[in-house]
Amino acid sequence: MKQNKEPKGEELSTLHSPLSTNHIYPIFDRMLAREDKEQLLKQHSVMIWFTGLSGSGKSTIAIALERELHKRGLLCRILDGDNIRSGINNNLGFSEADRVENIRRIAEVSKLFIDSGIITIAAFISPNNDIREMAANIIGQDDFLEIYVSTPLAECEKRDVKGLYAKARKGEIKNFTGISAPFEAPLHPALELDTSKLSLEESVNRLLELILPKVKR
Ligand code: ADX
Repeated sequence: MKQNKEPKGEELSTLHSPLSTNHIYPIFDRMLAREDKEQLLKQHSVMIWFTGLSGSGKSTIAIALERELHKRGLLCRILDGDNIRSGINNNLGFSEADRVENIRRIAEVSKLFIDSGIITIAAFISPNNDIREMAANIIGQDDFLEIYVSTPLAECEKRDVKGLYAKARKGEIKNFTGISAPFEAPLHPALELDTSKLSLEESVNRLLELILPKVKR
């Protein structure tokens, strides 16, 4: 069984500072490696990170994608805005600082799943490049596939599945992304999906083309 390599020399000295000041001694080096988990699951893990406006279709695509991957014997985990915000992040709102903390925790949790060999699918507005860059850095740039669900604001607002755009327009919800808070489009997404032009099946097929070669072993 492949072991993580033991830290030595320089690595040990970084391990002992600055963490030792808090009396924290991570045991990452003694645990089974990601590769061991990936072998067990017969797959490679990757982070599929959906970004886009509320109502753009992120969750719908994530759910359909998970089903298709599952059918092919691939183990996935979805992390989704409304779910995470009713659990681990239920103490966070929508100020800029809270959105950063929301995404930071989600990225750390995602990393745990990825290190367990699980294909991890995140569906969060994650409204700007800095926030997504932070997530990619926590998770690891090489594992991070940014998928921009680029459905236009007018279409998201027309759908208004949760009735939130109407409330945001009336000023009943503050800092609402796209209305009273900014959304910055990704600069170089691995894939862009506009659900006002693509069917759900087309979006999922494009994703499968991108993802299957990376996760199959
Ligand atoms: S993020 O900006 O911090 O990434 P996240 O994806 O977790 O957002 O949550 C977005 C969901 O929260 C939306 O789909 C919507 O249902 C709900 N929501 C409630 N208030 C707001 C708001 N002010 N801005 C955006 N979404 C909001």
